[in-house]
Amino acid sequence: MPPSPNQASIYMKKFYVETYGCQMNFYDSQVVDGVLEERGMVKVDRPEDSDVILINTCSVRDKAEQRVRGRVNQLAGLRYDREEGPLIGLLGCMAQRLGGTLLEGKKSPLDFVVGTDQYMKLPEIIARAHGKEADLYFTDFDHVVTYEAQPKSMPPGGSHYVAVMHGCDKFCTYCIVPFTRGRERSKPVDVILREVETIADQDGFEVTLLGQTISSYKHEDVDFAGLLEQVSQVRGIESLRFMTSYPTDLTAELFAAMEKLPKVERRIHLPVQSGSDRILKIMNRRYTLAEYEKILDLGRREMPGLIFSTDIIVGFPGETEEDFQATLDLVKRQRFVSAYMFKYSPREGTLSARNEDDVPTEVKEERLSRLMEVQSDNTQNYLQERMGSEMEILLDETSKKTKNQLRGRTRDQFRVVVDRSPQMRIGSRIRVRIVEIRGETLMGIPLS
Ligand code: 5AD
Ligand code: SF4
Repeated sequence: MPPSPNQASIYMKKFYVETYGCQMNFYDSQVVDGVLEERGMVKVDRPEDSDVILINTCSVRDKAEQRVRGRVNQLAGLRYDREEGPLIGLLGCMAQRLGGTLLEGKKSPLDFVVGTDQYMKLPEIIARAHGKEADLYFTDFDHVVTYEAQPKSMPPGGSHYVAVMHGCDKFCTYCIVPFTRGRERSKPVDVILREVETIADQDGFEVTLLGQTISSYKHEDVDFAGLLEQVSQVRGIESLRFMTSYPTDLTAELFAAMEKLPKVERRIHLPVQSGSDRILKIMNRRYTLAEYEKILDLGRREMPGLIFSTDIIVGFPGETEEDFQATLDLVKRQRFVSAYMFKYSPREGTLSARNEDDVPTEVKEERLSRLMEVQSDNTQNYLQERMGSEMEILLDETSKKTKNQLRGRTRDQFRVVVDRSPQMRIGSRIRVRIVEIRGETLMGIPLS
């Protein structure tokens, strides 16, 4: 007889989680930890020590999916080393997108597939998989579910993610996210505050709020500005970041509200995707280039010292050299501090995948490398401009290389390393002078 759901913990004690993709997936994995730990299961650090392997996946580009497929096959190899090898379950966007098809065929190494809205059911699903039940895939959307991370499963360290919105309703024509994450919904403020307070109680001092289109947060009468204000008031939280904003959600009022909140970091991630109006239109981005640039100007005006990072896709179907040139010009003109740059990857089920992926790979690669070169100059210029200046940093961790140095971040999120002295405390702010650039890190000398 298969074990009842309550017996899951007795049979399958140890679980291992591997996470791919965006910050939202890392947050979700933390939620999964909490769901399983609550049922008596114990997290382990090595797949070979586990009874259940969970892989939280990304679908945003084909490369991400290929990587996971390779890894699943590799992990399935563990089965041959033991009499009763670990179960393997796939979670996340790829699970949501492909569902039961992932279990088809005699050779599928997967025991179960769990989509993005179904993680609360995991203990039951694991028990059923242990009972050798077939066809275990759970991909229904629940258009209201939001998750809450549990205190015990929050990772150590001062900096934490908190999801405040789930899903996306924008339907950019290239993007799979609206299909893998479902409709947009905001998490109740009291749940968010409970999580942030727990983070602060456990010595956390930095929070990054997450959502696919975060600035459109709205729960009952609280909008995004209101949420930032309330989170800012949590004692112990020193630094507040958020991602990802959709350009048209950033209004003068929102910038003005943020300017009044000193804990809000002075760097905003604002994906533009392309510098060509023609391409923006077929991407279903709901702004023109001029409108986007006006938002950047507005932000800099309302929040002096504000800087922007962005996302860009090259080689979207139909992108001409002229369209690409417009993107290059934009990147030169607006001097983004950093940019995530991607080659277009057609995703089945999206509108743009119906069009031929007609920009040849070599052209995509060539455009990407030209773009990266321009962007790399931008980043270098920002670093150079900071040489010799005095800046305030929030000390956030011990240097990875040596215990004698601490790492911190400026308000606009440049990483700064300083020599450690006894009075320095992680989680506090100090003033430094920048004296050297090493890669993308600034070296600072404390000013007393
Ligand atoms: N191909 C390439 N890049 C994509 N992105 C989203 N979908 C695709 C796709 N099909 C990029 C966008 C988005 C970031 C998270 O990933 O730039 O902002
Ligand atoms: Fe994807 Fe566009 Fe939604 Fe961002 S806003 S998650 S790119 S559909």
